[in-house]
Amino acid sequence: MLDKTKRGWWRSAVFYQIYPKSFQDSNGDGIGDIPGILSRLDHLQKLGVDGVWLSPVYASPQADNGYDISDYRAIWPPMGTMEDMETLIAEAKKRGISIIMDLVLNHTSDQHAWFRQALKSRDDPYHDYYIWRDGGPDQPPNDMRAVFGGPMWTYVPHLGQYYFHQYAVQQPDLNWANPAVRRELYDMIRFWVDKGVEGFRLDVIDSIAKDPDRKITGNGPRLHEFLRELSREAFCEEGLVTVGEAWGADVERAKRYSTPDGSELSMVFQFEHMCLDQRPGGEKWDPIPLPLPALKRCVERWQRGLHGQGWNSLFLDNHDLPRIVSRWGDEGKYRVESAKMLATMLHGLEGTPYIYQGEELGMTNIRLPIGAYQDIETKNLYAERLARGDDPQAVMASIYARSRDNARTPMQWSAEKNAGFSQADPWLPVNPNYKTINAQAALADPGSVFYYYRDLIALRKRYPVFRDGAFTLLEPESEELFVYTRETEGEQLLVVCNFTGRTIPYQRPAAFARAALLLGNYGRGDGALGPYEARMLYQRRWP
Ligand code: NOJ
Repeated sequence: MLDKTKRGWWRSAVFYQIYPKSFQDSNGDGIGDIPGILSRLDHLQKLGVDGVWLSPVYASPQADNGYDISDYRAIWPPMGTMEDMETLIAEAKKRGISIIMDLVLNHTSDQHAWFRQALKSRDDPYHDYYIWRDGGPDQPPNDMRAVFGGPMWTYVPHLGQYYFHQYAVQQPDLNWANPAVRRELYDMIRFWVDKGVEGFRLDVIDSIAKDPDRKITGNGPRLHEFLRELSREAFCEEGLVTVGEAWGADVERAKRYSTPDGSELSMVFQFEHMCLDQRPGGEKWDPIPLPLPALKRCVERWQRGLHGQGWNSLFLDNHDLPRIVSRWGDEGKYRVESAKMLATMLHGLEGTPYIYQGEELGMTNIRLPIGAYQDIETKNLYAERLARGDDPQAVMASIYARSRDNARTPMQWSAEKNAGFSQADPWLPVNPNYKTINAQAALADPGSVFYYYRDLIALRKRYPVFRDGAFTLLEPESEELFVYTRETEGEQLLVVCNFTGRTIPYQRPAAFARAALLLGNYGRGDGALGPYEARMLYQRRWP
């Protein structure tokens, strides 16, 4: 177990993200819940993770699956009770697993008591908890477009005002310029720290300091001032880990977010690498094949830029992204090989890895009829693109490739009914491939993706080079291979990944002639690389 009293313990940690609605249902309503998570702690312990990032479990009307919170201090009843939550925190801790809660501080639900109060009158003290501008019914303050489609402004006729929302209409943005808002949020965070929560993932934290009059959403002028205050007032314990989701962070900004003096956050969770396989100038809905050299250059820039100056999160999957094995691997013939290869590429890097539920099984994307999708973003996209005259088939192709529901199908535990997720029909269909891809089958197979992830996690604990090593990219122009080294004074690691389904000739660099194979998905350290083959070679350095 990791010693979490040590400063910066999270630099040696591996986290696992749970999307509670889809993890395990315990009471037969088709919705995952906290007792369900409790019943699966063994799975996480076997994998060897040090913490769980729990997507929101708070009271919520679920317009955005809990990222629309109506009460930060209550649990959404279908997910359980406050007592269940306290039990989960305690039971996980006994197993060396910290619970990291999701903090949605940029916006609330429109059903939150603050917003309902704010709607009452312009003079209500809660009115200024949100962002308002005067206007007539057809004169929004400007033409800003919300992330989930439609305008960023919604008109409230009885106030003669618009409120500002970067996401759905049901997710009004909080006004961080109001000190009373900040105070409320800090008090709420302390409520959870007192319950034993050991850290937080901060949803779209780069958007809190918005300035709609200047059309600024991300990286607003007061952002770092707010973050430092938040850190001082709410995250004052030494051991708390804080992870800032920041789509708009570049390396320089990330250094500020995650400055080693601890005055802001522990680490940044940024997406530059996940935005490379879309048409330049296009949206995520317009995928192109992954340009591997661009990915390598991007990883190199982040690895070198933050080394000693900040800290990054490492991930390929989460609840907002399609499944990585379907995206950059091969969900067919080489599903297992490619899932392991992608994991090798990621887990050799500097940063804190996050494994998203089901990634450790090599779960894949799904194709559903449009009526079965639940995600607000997917549904809005379909309506918007059809309204502008797009071909429905082309829109569905985008959705199959990119819908967030790809990652949100229920966890595949076994070959039993509903993949062992629930006795009832799940809120979102189970992927039909659950009969073969499931945790029970993976645990019975020593060659499974699950055991490979377990090995990767164990290696990170064993060899300091995974945490500390300086990164060097080799073969930057190769369209097929991703090769890099990590080095400290005492250790050297070579990571070699074949991103294609073809055999590629390969010879290890002379400097690694005597290095031993630490882990590989073909079990060999030499010779041509098979389809999606990955190798990690290691040697000590002698003075
Ligand atoms: C980012 C979350 O990860 C996503 O699921 C959510 O829809 C938006 N933030 C809005 O809270």
